[in-house]
Amino acid sequence: MYQDRIRCAALRAKVTSADDAAHLIKDGMCVGASGFTRAGDAKAVPVALAERARREAGPLRITLMTGASLGHDVDRLLTQAHVLARRLPFQVDKTLRDAINGGEVMYVDQHLSETVEMLRANQLGKLDVAIIEAVAITESGGIVPTTSVGNSASFAMLADKVIVEINLAQTPALEGLHDIWIPARRPNRGPLPIMHPQDRVGSPAIEIPHEKIAAIVVTDVADSPSTVQPTDPETQLIAGHLIEFFRHEMTRGRMPRQMPPLQAGIGTIANAVLSGFVDSPFGALQMYSEVLQDSTFDLMDAGKMTFASGASITLSAARQAQVFGDLERYRNRLVLRPQEVSNHPEVIRRLGLIALNTALEFDIYGNVNSTHVGGTHMMNGIGGSGDFARNASCAIFATKSMAKGGRISSVVPMVPHCDHNEHDVDVVVTEQGLADLRGLAPRERARLIIGNCAHPSYRDALRDYYREALKAGGQTPHRLELAFAWHTRLRDTGAMLPTVPSQV
Ligand code: COA
Repeated sequence: MYQDRIRCAALRAKVTSADDAAHLIKDGMCVGASGFTRAGDAKAVPVALAERARREAGPLRITLMTGASLGHDVDRLLTQAHVLARRLPFQVDKTLRDAINGGEVMYVDQHLSETVEMLRANQLGKLDVAIIEAVAITESGGIVPTTSVGNSASFAMLADKVIVEINLAQTPALEGLHDIWIPARRPNRGPLPIMHPQDRVGSPAIEIPHEKIAAIVVTDVADSPSTVQPTDPETQLIAGHLIEFFRHEMTRGRMPRQMPPLQAGIGTIANAVLSGFVDSPFGALQMYSEVLQDSTFDLMDAGKMTFASGASITLSAARQAQVFGDLERYRNRLVLRPQEVSNHPEVIRRLGLIALNTALEFDIYGNVNSTHVGGTHMMNGIGGSGDFARNASCAIFATKSMAKGGRISSVVPMVPHCDHNEHDVDVVVTEQGLADLRGLAPRERARLIIGNCAHPSYRDALRDYYREALKAGGQTPHRLELAFAWHTRLRDTGAMLPTVPSQV
């Protein structure tokens, strides 16, 4: 059956086992693997590599680059086998997270649009091997990706050797969904010609000389389903605040009546907020985003969304079966692009995107920490949130106002790590309410954020802090020793305040 998927006859002789293919990877190499938010990841060769590392006596340590996070516990298995010396640009695995925070794995947390740009410019060294999951190989040797494009196209083009994993579990109907367009090398680069989310500007497959394909491995494993949790009363409140905000903006003529294209980040909160748009008055919605989650298809099914452009499709198990079992129903409303195109500043700014991402915490002046718990320990990574926030027409960050049973306030005096600074953040929102920061000076922002977004249990402590900070003066008043006491107390006692607020 796999012969039908390898339409370039000359390549059929390259079919081999995952173990044999993994032997193309040597100690010290740099490997680029497909996979973006658990979708379209290489599923067999990395696992075979981990097994080989466990068996063999000698060192086997590599740099691994991907699109974004992987499924099938691949990052865990590689970490446990001590294969990962360096990892970029994104991950979400608990075991790998611990190895990163323990200093065993060097993690380069990058804007997702930048990895292959840097690779192309020789700033990240040479890429030795690419491992790309594919639904088929065309007559001319073109690689047809599966549920994500991510960085696969550039990895295949830049690597010395390419291993293709033909996954029989991925529906052949995926062919035709992708739009592979790669920018020319600088400085002779023209504009990126995408004027609307639905524009197709490239080719349906990754075109490389077929001689570069060194091995083909046949697999039959579905993508790992997404782990997002269902909506809850707090995420519903966040969605409600945002819908009210957009309505207000349109009434005032500050946002077009036709909602600009949307981007929504990974995770439970962004997915839940987008699902909340099903009951909104807005229609003919479009997405120009990175990962398309269940909520995209909820909106399409509700007749609210006409088109979605992304770099991957990451769904719950139930949605996987439904969407990929009946892809014809959605085909004309979807396109999958390389992540440097889905996250490209030029297109994001041209389309006037509304970007919705999730914060771990933000401070009273609107600086956002999305990555570092306590300012030191990596959670996941910045992902594409910075690509979008910096360039969107409206950059929104959402979070619940408290975490860990109320021991943590998500609104703090000063973030101990800053991913998105006050210059890039337009709106912050929690279940308590929304603060529109545009055109406001730091002192104006502080009053609004504390009053609208902080949990009532923390408002007095934040106001006390702000009053003390004002005594020190400044454009952005702070008392650093008091600000950081919130974080050092959390580190030392497990709670941000000396007494956990009584309402909690
Ligand atoms: N301090 C410590 N932990 C916190 C916290 C805080 N201020 N706020 C939330 N958390 C914890 C939660 O308790 C939860 O922990 P658990 O996994 O042990 O239950 C975890 O962070 C996830 O929080 P949750 O509220 O479920 O939100 P989420 O699933 O939407 O994830 C981020 C939130 C910030 C971790 C996630 O969105 C992320 O990694 N963002 C950065 C990348 C990004 O934005 N990409 C967007 C473009 S794709």
